Amino acid sequence: MKVLMINGSPRGDGSNTLRALREMETVFVKNGVECEIVTVGDKAIRGCMGCAACHKTGKCAIDDMVNEVAEKFKECDGMVIGSPVYYAAANGTLVSFLDRLFYSSQFDKRFKVGASVAAARRGGLTSTFDQLNKYFTVSGMPLASGTYWNGVHGRRVGEAVEDAEGLQNMRTLAESMTFLMRSIALGKEKYGEFEAEKKIYTDFIKRNKA
Ligand SMILES: Cc1cc2nc3c(=O)[nH]c(=O)nc-3n(C[C@H](O)[C@H](O)[C@H](O)COP(=O)(O)O)c2cc1C
Repeated sequence: MKVLMINGSPRGDGSNTLRALREMETVFVKNGVECEIVTVGDKAIRGCMGCAACHKTGKCAIDDMVNEVAEKFKECDGMVIGSPVYYAAANGTLVSFLDRLFYSSQFDKRFKVGASVAAARRGGLTSTFDQLNKYFTVSGMPLASGTYWNGVHGRRVGEAVEDAEGLQNMRTLAESMTFLMRSIALGKEKYGEFEAEKKIYTDFIKRNKA
């Protein structure tokens, strides 16, 4: 069982987003779930060019860490995305990364469990949480939940350590995610996966292009 965690903070080891992810990691380790944290927030990652080359190759035409992480994404059973809140939304570098990762990778993501986490001084946690969850829910990925809309509070580096409720939520979220990943693995064995319908792809409702 493997979880891939994406850290969208550029603020290094003490960042509040990373603090939240590390709290989840302690639970994954305890549960015997393999766990890797990949930091993207401090990298120079440009946004999607809309070139559609990936429709043919299944890879992003900009051959950077997006394609490397896509390989890890393919292998994992669950993904956590963590972001600092910038203007009530996710960090721009992270959004560039996620747009390209989810759009270019063509493998089946259904039933990989997703969880989103945000870190903020004060406001915009839930809008960021909603924004990040959209990558999962457009991909057939079920969401794990904690005890609140997943977030930690803190402005300066390291302040999230004082947010006891936020960190408790992270631990519960990791337990819930472990349970869901295990249950899905069992369910696949017992019931098998359903066959996905061929995707209907329309421009508005006027014509079927597929
Ligand atoms: C450009 C920018 C915009 C920000 N916008 C918000 C905001 O909308 N709401 C908020 O509560 N905090 C905001 N903050 C504060 C950060 O969310 C906060 O410092 C958070 O802990 C950063 O997480 P990190 O340590 O993981 O990088 C902003 C910070 C920056 C640099």
